[in-house]
Amino acid sequence: MSVSALIVAIDGPAASGKSTVAKRIAKELGIVFVSSGGMYRAFTWLTLEKGISPADTDAVIALLGETEFKGGEEEGLGTFAVNGRFLTREELSAADVNSNVSVIATIPEVRARLVAEQRAYAEKTGLVMEGRDIGSVVFPDTPYKFYIDASPEVREQRRRAEGITDSIAARDKTDSSRKASPLVVPEDAIVVDSSELSVEEVVERVIAEIGVRSGRPS
Ligand code: DC
Repeated sequence: MSVSALIVAIDGPAASGKSTVAKRIAKELGIVFVSSGGMYRAFTWLTLEKGISPADTDAVIALLGETEFKGGEEEGLGTFAVNGRFLTREELSAADVNSNVSVIATIPEVRARLVAEQRAYAEKTGLVMEGRDIGSVVFPDTPYKFYIDASPEVREQRRRAEGITDSIAARDKTDSSRKASPLVVPEDAIVVDSSELSVEEVVERVIAEIGVRSGRPS
């Protein structure tokens, strides 16, 4: 398999450390990092900006039809614009986005559209994509699937340390119980519990497993 075709899928619950780990792995492998949650967040931001209630599914779907998404890349990081607007980190992790994104992500039409956008990234480049359904739905054929977990206590603590208001338990519940592509451990994924591990240790473990699965142990 050529490096450009390398797709690493990293799933896990909110604040499990998967985003930090995925970014580091992408850098080490020289491929692009993409946060699929960032896409759900960007569309949630737009919904709220338009004054649409996330519970008003028909209005959200109508907005989806009028929305243009554009994926790109800048210095190894996947970028994503909605209707030509790139959002800042602060906008994407604002408290009202945090509290509404899981509801928006339950809508099958929204998921279908964003899954297509996520797959489009892989047509151009090798990538590490993190999310909730990357190994199970977006790229089920990749052999490189990881599920990064951590205890709820550790995850709440990590969010507090970042100074971010986030209802981890509520998002866990919505993400795991929704009908469309719930958060699951993909059947053939390697599970890494990061509760007691440093970022370096998790990264090392994942890189070593990619080596094993590619037949090129590092
Ligand atoms: O990874 P994150 O916290 O930025 O994700 C924000 C929300 O987006 C998460 O609560 C559920 C949703 N999401 C999803 O449903 N599927 C994905 N692949 C990624 C995120």
